[in-house]
Amino acid sequence: MNYNRTLITAALPYANGPVHIGHLAGVYVPADIYARYLRLKGKETLFVCGSDEHGVPVTIRARKEGITTQQVVDRYHELIKRSFADFGISFDIYSRTTSNIHHKLASDYFRKLYDNGKFIEQTTEQFYDPETGHFLTDRNIRGECPHCHNLGAYGDQCEKCGSTLSPEELINPYNAETGNPLVKKPTSHWYLPLDQYQQWLEQWILEEHKEWRPNVYGQCKSWLDGGLRPRAVTRDLDWGIPVPVEGAEGKVLYVWFDAPIGYISNTKELCDAQPEKYGNWEKWWKDPSTRLIHFIGKDNIVFHCIVFPAMLKADGSYILPDNVPSNEFLNLEGDKISTSRNWAVWLNEYLDDFPGKQDVLRYVLTANAPETKDNDFTWADFQARNNNELVAIYGNFVNRALVLTGKYFDGKVPAQGELSDYDKATIDEFNNVKTTLEDLLNNFRFRDAQKEAMNLARIGNKYLADTEPWKLAKTDLDRTATILNLSLQIAANLAIAFEPFLPFSSAKLREMLGLESFNWEELGRTDLLAEGHPLGQVSLLFEKIDDAPIQAQLDRLARIKAENEAAAQAEALKNWQPVPVKAPTTIDEFDKADIRVGTVLECTNVKKSDRLLQFRIDDGMGGRTILSGIAQSYPDPSVLVGKQVLFIANFPPRKMMGIESQGMILSAVNADGKLIVTTVTAPVRNGAQVG
Ligand code: 2FM
Ligand code: ZN
Repeated sequence: MNYNRTLITAALPYANGPVHIGHLAGVYVPADIYARYLRLKGKETLFVCGSDEHGVPVTIRARKEGITTQQVVDRYHELIKRSFADFGISFDIYSRTTSNIHHKLASDYFRKLYDNGKFIEQTTEQFYDPETGHFLTDRNIRGECPHCHNLGAYGDQCEKCGSTLSPEELINPYNAETGNPLVKKPTSHWYLPLDQYQQWLEQWILEEHKEWRPNVYGQCKSWLDGGLRPRAVTRDLDWGIPVPVEGAEGKVLYVWFDAPIGYISNTKELCDAQPEKYGNWEKWWKDPSTRLIHFIGKDNIVFHCIVFPAMLKADGSYILPDNVPSNEFLNLEGDKISTSRNWAVWLNEYLDDFPGKQDVLRYVLTANAPETKDNDFTWADFQARNNNELVAIYGNFVNRALVLTGKYFDGKVPAQGELSDYDKATIDEFNNVKTTLEDLLNNFRFRDAQKEAMNLARIGNKYLADTEPWKLAKTDLDRTATILNLSLQIAANLAIAFEPFLPFSSAKLREMLGLESFNWEELGRTDLLAEGHPLGQVSLLFEKIDDAPIQAQLDRLARIKAENEAAAQAEALKNWQPVPVKAPTTIDEFDKADIRVGTVLECTNVKKSDRLLQFRIDDGMGGRTILSGIAQSYPDPSVLVGKQVLFIANFPPRKMMGIESQGMILSAVNADGKLIVTTVTAPVRNGAQVG
């Protein structure tokens, strides 16, 4: 199918915090590469985004920071918008879902589906806090995990044992904020009956979109295989777009109903403001010759591939997405990026630490893009890619070509004389770069596409290294002219090829080459710079990054890790309660265990075991060796030497790691799960019996 225009959307980020490298790598850099590529090709393109300002995440943030929800979204909307602009994410519009246009459009959208009988109404029992008069969302409910008995499990998940939960499963559920106990109360909501769209979605996705990325297609298939169920599109909350139905006071549209409509309202806002430039908004959303592409992260797949298309279908007047390129997740130094744990590289902070180095981050994030699997960002890799690739290959080549032209030809493009066989072979190597790049970009393979662009710089670098014009200049200025002419043509090609990926560097290179503009179709040509064309001011395209700023980043992360561990421990202690008392026993049963006091003479780690400590105990009866699996609690086991401890003296000997253990040291399970040796404070004779 041929398309007349492409509408690109990038997931609307929640305005509940700044944006980090995971956002950039997962969604915004790939979307921007694609938008820039299409524009450079002269295609009619619109790139739309904005802040997602409803939903529970923003209200949670407001309560945490002790400010109003409006203040939260105002603050983060501005910060996020600025970060995207700073990184060259070339949205045509970046708006927000608290805009009047959006409220009206989302409200009208709901109303139309409501009037056309597209929803079903259902009453269910939901958790309610009688004290505050609020229904609670899953995340705002806490209680005891039925599996591990963690007392602070959330209504959707227990973070201690990792179980997925529903609030009904929690023992003694309470309001996470107030601690109030909850009751069940009936409430009615509107549901989009996704089950009615099952067949249509199966045909549309599984049959007609087999070309979608395997991760996207696979997730859709498993949702569809599981059978779709009606999904509530309203919530009992006081932050959001009021449900435009009489008698629905206190209810708002579910954030996942209104957010994707934000793509439409933001388009409308832009087109209404500049109709001569962008045309009528409906041409972008209702004309079948518009191609709609959603860039998202993997946690958004179901909403963009199943729920939103069903909403569009229910309305009936909209086009559907043609593709939904979704990335997996980016980790940071081996750990999941997390806003709440501050385990992230925040874009605003990055720019404070590395001013002017937006393209370096863009480059590294694309080189490591989590296109097919989760990937890891490390500062060592960041430094290596900058120093060994951007500086040593791309920057080095461009700099040599420009500096030599300045030196030998007064900064003017020298004449291209007769081409040698080697020149021709070099040209052959790069004149298919356009088709290769197009093929990769058209298929959303940005990582490989950027590699291909870097290959072009490699070709240039090798060409200069092999022809050595700095030596030739002394004997053959004509040949030197040809070599530098060809090198400058390659540099101009690089400026074009890298534009979608590294827009700041391409703009800089374009200025250095004295080029007004360029377009994609010129890629692969060797006549982009005419003989005598004056070059601009030459400066370094990239600079080396040394160890000190990298170490500073690693130190910051180490500090955060330590803070997080301390906070997790404090949290565990706060919620800790003794486990229930065991079933009744008798003194006779108890008496069977012979518990004694002994002094620790030696305590060391058992070789090749990260669990076992080896104790030598003065037991008043000649001494004994006992092994105990508590090494994790004692990074320095020597602290136990000299302490009087309790041990069971009449367990049969047992061999572990080739050592015989003659008893068991008594330990208490601490609130953080660590085993702590119980010690005796008043001195007692070694061998004394406990009873
Ligand atoms: O996951 C998120 O960050 C959501 N705010 C994405 C919304 S995308 C769209 F539908 F608006
Ligand atoms: Zn649990």
